[in-house]
Amino acid sequence: MPDETPVIDIRNLHKAYGSLEVIKGVDITAPKGSVVSLIGSSGSGKSTILRCANLLEDSQQGDILFKGEPVTWKGSGLNRHPADPRQVLRIRTNLSMVFQQFNLWAHLTILQNVMEAPVTVLGRPKDEVEKAARGYLEKVGIGDKCDVYPAQLSGGQQQRAAIARALCMEPEALLFDEPTSALDPELEQEVVRVIKDLAAEGRTMMIVTHDMKMAHDVSDHVIFLHQGLIEEEGDPETLFGSPKSERLRQFLSSTMAA
Ligand SMILES: Nc1ncnc2c1ncn2[C@@H]1O[C@H](COP(=O)(O)OP(=O)(O)OP(=O)(O)O)[C@@H](O)[C@H]1O
Ligand SMILES: [Mg+2]
Repeated sequence: MPDETPVIDIRNLHKAYGSLEVIKGVDITAPKGSVVSLIGSSGSGKSTILRCANLLEDSQQGDILFKGEPVTWKGSGLNRHPADPRQVLRIRTNLSMVFQQFNLWAHLTILQNVMEAPVTVLGRPKDEVEKAARGYLEKVGIGDKCDVYPAQLSGGQQQRAAIARALCMEPEALLFDEPTSALDPELEQEVVRVIKDLAAEGRTMMIVTHDMKMAHDVSDHVIFLHQGLIEEEGDPETLFGSPKSERLRQFLSSTMAA
């Protein structure tokens, strides 16, 4: 029997920054092994959803379930916070985030960057982590870069190092926030290739992207956000092939023209 419990299940999520309502009631489910992409204009709330999902941001209403386990909250409204720090840590380490700006430690080698969190946060044995880290760097195609510093790598190589670092946490799911948008087109393709390989392996992923081709090629489900609400969603063939909403049609024609 396959496990039917979604890895990430977001229900009726609401998020405001002070009086600015940013997410206005959003439901997103990422079943195990699925790739869910979030697309939409700048400011539509894509990054905020990822940050709420892994509890980097508080939210005011709605439920977030990780493998069926609901986040427990204390307080309400703008005073609502996760109640259990251990649960937050458990969820956060299981939803590894890859950012647009790779955020590698400049003073650590690539291998040390990848090993850092599994050793210090998870307390895993160093020799075991080193073996895994070398394996993940190999997997993303930079196994020969273990001993150099981030500044000595191209942007595409740095982003692949950041992906290896996320993988080394052995998370249940990966969250990508615009993983290719800081890169030149040819470097972007190196990263897209890695993400495609991860999708083909059946990793659970939520991806915020401006790259419609990647969203089309890797996703099981695509969500178009508009001003903090889901305007349209569906499988990539239908969503990109026959968009129903006028806003989505406009968005797609503007991104294709760019
Ligand atoms: N820390 C913050 N404080 C106040 N407002 C914020 C904060 N972070 C985001 N916002 C606002 O929330 C809204 C959604 O932002 P978000 O970063 O989620 O958009 P996005 O869809 O990821 O956009 P982009 O494509 O530009 O990355 C925007 O109006 C933004 O100005
Ligand atoms: Mg964003």
